[in-house]
Amino acid sequence: VTPANSRSVALAALAAVEDGAFANLTLPKLLESSELERRDRDFATGLVYGVTRMRRALDWLISLRVDRPIEPEVRNLLRLGLFQLRWMDVPDHAAVSETVDLAPPRARGFVNAVLRRSAGADPGWPDLPTELSYPDWIFERLVADFGEADATDALRRMNQPPPVTVRQDGYVQDLASQWVAAAAGAELPPGGVAYDLAAAPGGKATALASRAGTVVAADLQPHRVRLISSNVRRLGLTNVSVMVADGKRPALAPESAGLVLVDAPCSGLGALRRRPDARWRIQARDVANLAALQARLVDSAAALVAPGGVLAYSACTMTEAETLGIDRHLEKSLAAWEPKQPQAGEWRAHGRGSLVLPHDHDTDGMFLLLLRRPT
Ligand SMILES: C[S@@+](CC[C@H](N)C(=O)[O-])C[C@H]1O[C@@H](n2cnc3c(N)ncnc32)[C@H](O)[C@@H]1O
Repeated sequence: VTPANSRSVALAALAAVEDGAFANLTLPKLLESSELERRDRDFATGLVYGVTRMRRALDWLISLRVDRPIEPEVRNLLRLGLFQLRWMDVPDHAAVSETVDLAPPRARGFVNAVLRRSAGADPGWPDLPTELSYPDWIFERLVADFGEADATDALRRMNQPPPVTVRQDGYVQDLASQWVAAAAGAELPPGGVAYDLAAAPGGKATALASRAGTVVAADLQPHRVRLISSNVRRLGLTNVSVMVADGKRPALAPESAGLVLVDAPCSGLGALRRRPDARWRIQARDVANLAALQARLVDSAAALVAPGGVLAYSACTMTEAETLGIDRHLEKSLAAWEPKQPQAGEWRAHGRGSLVLPHDHDTDGMFLLLLRRPT
C-alpha cells in the first residue's frame, strides 16, 4: 500500500474540484493514469468524496485554528488531514505525517501545527448545517418540509457513500429507482408501449423493457442518448428504441402509449450522496426553474397517454415545488385522472403521490406520482 500516493492523487482531484470540475468525472480520470492498486484507489475516492461533502464542516474546523487567509493548496491539505483525523479510520499520526509530507516545504510547519492541535479536539459546532456540512438553504428547506428529525437523518445519510445495488440483469441501479421502474411498469399491460421522455442513461427505460413490448427512450442531450444506446446494447435488449428529443415537444403521436414516464431533471437533493459536489452547485433559485420545466414535461407527457393508460412522474428530490407542487399542478390540469398507489417499493404517502427519504431504506430520496387516464 502506498497511501502517500493515494493522498497525492486525492489532492490533485480536490484542486480540480475546487476549480469547478465534477468530482465524479475528474477523479476516475486521475485514478486511471495513476496506476494505483484497487485498495489505494478506494482510499483516494473516500478522501476526495468525503472532503468534498464535508467541506463546510472542515472549513469550520480550520477556522478554529487559523484566522488569516490560506492559499488554496494548503487549505486542501488541511481539509485532507482533518477529514482523516475526524472521519476516517486512519491512525492520527499517519493522518498528520502523510499529509505533512505532501505539503510544500514552506507550509510544512504550519500544516503540522494545525493538524496536531486539531487531533481529538472538541469541534464545537456552531449549528447543524455546519456540522452536517450543507448550505443553509438545503437544511432549512428540508426542516421546513419534514421537521428537524427527518431532515437531519436524511442529510446525515447523504454524507455516507451509497450502497451498490445490482439488478437481476447486472445493471447497477439505486433501489428507489428500481422501485419507480417496477411501480410504473406494473401499470402497463404486458407487451404494451412505454415512453420514457427523460431517459438517459437508460436505467428506468431498460428496466421497463422487461415488461413492455416496446420502449421509446428519449432524452434532450445527444451525448446522454449515446449512454442509453450503449446500455441497451450491453444488456442485449431489442425492444428499446432510442431518440434525441425535447420532452416538451417530442415527435410522438398523441394518446399512443400505455405508460409515459417523466423521470424529471430535478434539483437532485435526494441523490446528494452520489454526487459529492452537487450540494455546493445547486442554488435555491434553481428549484423554481426546474419545477417550471417539470410542469411542462408532464403536460406534454400527459398528451401522449392513451385512454386507460398511466402517466408516471418521478424525481430524485424532495423539495415541495418539485413534489407536491407538481402534484397540485396535475390535480388542476388532469382533474379526471385517478392517482394510483405504487405496486412496488416502500413509500410514505406524499400528497397524492409517494416519497421515500434517504434514511427510510438507505436509498436515494425519490418522489413518484402515478395517474391513470380515464378510458
Ligand atoms: C433524472 S435524469 C433521467 C435518469 C433516467 N431516467 C434513468 O433512470 O437512468 C433526467 C434526464 O432529463 C434530461 N432532460 C433535461 N431536460 C430535458 C428535456 N427538455 N427533454 C428531455 N430530457 C431532458 C437530462 O438530459 C437527463 O438525462
